[in-house]
Amino acid sequence: MKDGSDPAFSRGDGDIGPIHVGIIMDGNGRWAAQRGLPRIEGHRRGVEALRQAVRAAPDFGIRYLTLYSFSTENWTRPPQEVSDLMALLKRFIRNDLAELHSHNVRVKVIGLRDNLDKDIGALLREAEDLTRHNTGLTLVIAFNYGSRQEIAQAARILAEKALAGRITPEDITPTTLAHHLDTAGIPDPDLIIRTSGERRLSNFLMWQAAYAELVFLPIYWPDFDRAALAGAVTDYAHRERRFGGVAAPLAVKTGS
Ligand code: IPE
Ligand code: IPE
Ligand code: MG
Repeated sequence: MKDGSDPAFSRGDGDIGPIHVGIIMDGNGRWAAQRGLPRIEGHRRGVEALRQAVRAAPDFGIRYLTLYSFSTENWTRPPQEVSDLMALLKRFIRNDLAELHSHNVRVKVIGLRDNLDKDIGALLREAEDLTRHNTGLTLVIAFNYGSRQEIAQAARILAEKALAGRITPEDITPTTLAHHLDTAGIPDPDLIIRTSGERRLSNFLMWQAAYAELVFLPIYWPDFDRAALAGAVTDYAHRERRFGGVAAPLAVKTGS
């Protein structure tokens, strides 16, 4: 089950694969430390793994791929590492944007923009503008992203609208709040994968992941590849999602 030739992973009637996959790309530093290399080397190899994930995702019927690239808490890392990560993002967009565009990938960025360097903000906007009308995979880059900040910002916008008399407090519902998140218009993630063996969300898509299936992989992110994605998608396909309801009768589940 390594590629899209398995019918279970093509989108269509009775499809069981995830539409939206979120990935917490963790373990670059430990991958490097294990080899006696500086952390930046792990991050560099991590970009290679990211490229593989983007190339492989459509073969599994995945329509949205959200990659956690830099969290609002990652600013607490040593300044050199922060600037290395910023430089890697810039290089990734400069090097890969044309190829992503030629593969019909639509790039969307979530996270705070205001405290990013101007040139990074401009590159992110360029990536979104160039690929806006593409119809293939939507690549969501979560950069300078944190769920708590995202939810607080949505609450603030709704409060301002209420103060201005444009909405009433009763208008604030899970649906209207979701419309004010950075992910508005993107379906909730079906599957969240975290590499490196850690088992936590670390402020990633906490609202959106309410009913996501979680898969934790024991490998470090630079070692992630198509086979690892296939394994996680297969694991997902065997889960029973209930969304608070009851299990579907066996006859319905098997279609017999
Ligand atoms: C993930 O790898 C990359 C980012 C958070 C940007 P880490 O840098 O967190 O690697 P570990 O967890 O220290 O091994
Ligand atoms: C989460 O990883 C953030 C990204 C992968 C970008 P961290 O390495 O920052 O998370 P913690 O600190 O282990 O929770
Ligand atoms: Mg980490």
